[in-house]
Amino acid sequence: MNGYGNIGRRLATMLSADKEFQFLGVAKYTADEKTREALDSKFDVYVPKHNLKQFRESNYEVSGTVEEAVEQSDIVVDAAKEGGGFDNKKRLYEPMKKAAIFQGGEDRHGAHSVADMIHNSRVNYAKASGKMYVIQGSCNVSGMGRIMQPLAEKFGDEIERYDVTIVRRWADLEDSKEVRDSIEWDESPHHQEDVKDFMPAANLFVEAYKVPSRMMHLHQMLIRFKTKAPTKDTIIEAFSKEFGVAILKSAKGTADVRKKALTLGFQHGDTNMVHIHQESLRVQNYFLKILYTDDQTGMVIPENHLLLQSMVFGRSREQAIKKTDTLFQLSRRTRILEEEFK
Ligand SMILES: NC(=O)c1ccc[n+]([C@@H]2O[C@H](COP(=O)([O-])OP(=O)(O)OC[C@H]3O[C@@H](n4cnc5c(N)ncnc54)[C@H](OP(=O)(O)O)[C@@H]3O)[C@@H](O)[C@H]2O)c1
Repeated sequence: MNGYGNIGRRLATMLSADKEFQFLGVAKYTADEKTREALDSKFDVYVPKHNLKQFRESNYEVSGTVEEAVEQSDIVVDAAKEGGGFDNKKRLYEPMKKAAIFQGGEDRHGAHSVADMIHNSRVNYAKASGKMYVIQGSCNVSGMGRIMQPLAEKFGDEIERYDVTIVRRWADLEDSKEVRDSIEWDESPHHQEDVKDFMPAANLFVEAYKVPSRMMHLHQMLIRFKTKAPTKDTIIEAFSKEFGVAILKSAKGTADVRKKALTLGFQHGDTNMVHIHQESLRVQNYFLKILYTDDQTGMVIPENHLLLQSMVFGRSREQAIKKTDTLFQLSRRTRILEEEFK
């Protein structure tokens, strides 16, 4: 596990719990208290060669260098800060011929592209089988695929376009960075092109705004149909059996859902899914509006687990979902959340 930030530490929990993998350990770059957390979690810690002395002087018992760890691995899950995965690929994975999964902050196109596909388990799971390099879509991109694909399968050509407004949280709960009192817009949200990478036929337009909150993302998806939009009941029914989609009635905001995950003792305080807010679902003439929340830190963890099973084992999606569900208890936790917000 290369990187031990908000995503890396969650992925490390997941990787170490799945005994089908032999988990080598985590790479740390800064000799800070998170290193102690990793060691307390019984993870072997690897650090850059030039930092070995500093970690050892700070009394952190490191197992070796990042270079040695990559050499010993069959596949690396990279969770570096945005853009760091590209440097790792050029410096380590490519020269050592190691497969790697990158996170959604890496580039799909251009000079810093790290892979030729973005994975979304609901859309293109099987395409990742046997690939050396794949990007796991970001939390927002993963959530959009999970909502759009069931609609595209059920209504196909009847859908004219999707307009999505993403309201992004400013920082994660664990982040120490300041949350500024401002609403920021994004001139060119990457989410639109990322989703089109795995759903090229979707007529999609995305706007994204960052707001001073730490509690999940909120998406408002407006779907325009060519003829009258389906009924609310048809839409709810279409999502009722979707893996990693909860349908909640009484939640009033993002914090309700996040705090529930924390009080219910879900691992890392995550739900690991998207939550459709049934009360705010609206149908009017040609339009359907779906409002759903997207667990920013948890969403991509089962996604990475599914992706690993495609890349490493070439397992069928059905079998992989069974395995992921056993590990994450997503179906059980979906039912719990639906009961809590009925
Ligand atoms: N946070 C989210 O909600 C979220 C959701 C979905 C996807 N993502 C994506 O996941 C990736 C990681 O995000 P994050 O939120 O976990 O970032 P983060 O909390 O800032 O953590 C980034 C980590 O990168 C480590 N690092 C520094 N140099 C590195 C290198 N050369 N190679 C590997 N790791 C290195 C840092 O280690 P030290 O602490 O030791 O310096 C730090 O722990 C990004 O691509 C992001 O877009 C994030």
